Amino acid sequence: MDTLTVRDIAVQGKRVLVRVDFNVPMENGVITDDTRIRAALPTIQYLREQGARVVLASHLGRPKGERAPELSLLPVRDRLAQLLQAPVEFCEDAVDPQALARTRELRDGAVLLLENVRYYKGEESNDPELAALFAQLADVYVNDAFGAAHRAHATTEGVARLLPSAAGLLMERELSVMGAALSTPARPFAAIIGGAKVSDKIRVIKNLLTKVDALLIGGGMANTFLLAQGYRTGKSLVEADKTDLARGLLSLAAETGKRLLLPVDLVVAKRFAADAPSRVVALDEIQDDDMALDIGPQTIRLYADEIARSRTIIWNGPMGVFEMEQFAIGTSAVAQAVADVQGVTIIGGGDSVAAVEKAGLAERMTHISTGGGASLEFLEGRQLPGVAALQAKGGGNL
Ligand code: 3PG
Repeated sequence: MDTLTVRDIAVQGKRVLVRVDFNVPMENGVITDDTRIRAALPTIQYLREQGARVVLASHLGRPKGERAPELSLLPVRDRLAQLLQAPVEFCEDAVDPQALARTRELRDGAVLLLENVRYYKGEESNDPELAALFAQLADVYVNDAFGAAHRAHATTEGVARLLPSAAGLLMERELSVMGAALSTPARPFAAIIGGAKVSDKIRVIKNLLTKVDALLIGGGMANTFLLAQGYRTGKSLVEADKTDLARGLLSLAAETGKRLLLPVDLVVAKRFAADAPSRVVALDEIQDDDMALDIGPQTIRLYADEIARSRTIIWNGPMGVFEMEQFAIGTSAVAQAVADVQGVTIIGGGDSVAAVEKAGLAERMTHISTGGGASLEFLEGRQLPGVAALQAKGGGNL
């Protein structure tokens, strides 16, 4: 990795502002999934062990510059303190002069969490004055918020330009595992792309087609490809105005000698409901009132064989409506096939992570990204602003 990491910098006795992504799901003030908090622990622990004074900053939800009490990070503070088995101080106003005083009072190894940084209007607009206020709270900046690295905000981008900066351990792992898969993959290399819309994943597909040996398409977006090939899609979710795009991707695959695999059979129902009677159909058997809700058994076999042959897999997006049990079979089978791969398996954020966790297979994957939008942009080959702003290796002593 070209960027300095937290291991490259001296932090003993220094105030280190660590941007983390504690944007965790909550219901009535209770955290329902603490994965992102756990994922930040190695960096926080490392800094504490090195005698740093840790100041944590994160967003939660999208309060748009207003103080929304339901989006307070207080429950996160409590959970973090439990996980660290150490006190975590809390600062309700990150840009109040008191905050500055509190960071100066921190002892070596202590941890202070700032309130939701999106309570401030200047956060999302990357206001330089707000960034300067955050910069005052620390001597060094560490970005460990891979999940927010695609945002150029005051705490992800602006402040990185005002302090000596480095990537945290989670950020380092995300960038190095996914970066290596894209640049020097063990082959064969297959990507599995699913989800509702081809328009959401067009850039990912284009970029991956330049790198993979095979691309497997599933989920709602497969319908647009099938329509482009002249099949009827009935009442299925389809982007009829994107068939040219789909055709373009099919030609790109053909021109570059890449195998682009589409479903060969589907599970359809007449209603979008968990209890709707369903049947398996060949592609030319779809009726006008049918909705495709999962890939069929032949497709599962085809995809599982392709996956089993691969030594590197990147998966983003489910194969069907996996939230409904009877339409989760394709997604679960793909999850199982990926888990069985002898090689590098990367789950690129969002719904596919939920699917892998639901199948109880998370432990068997090489890497599960903590980023949704961020991992998608990374797989698109775009530079993430939160990473670009960090100091490059060899760029001076800290
Ligand atoms: C995420 O949940 O993907 C990140 O925390 C980014 O959140 P955002 O989409 O609100 O910027």
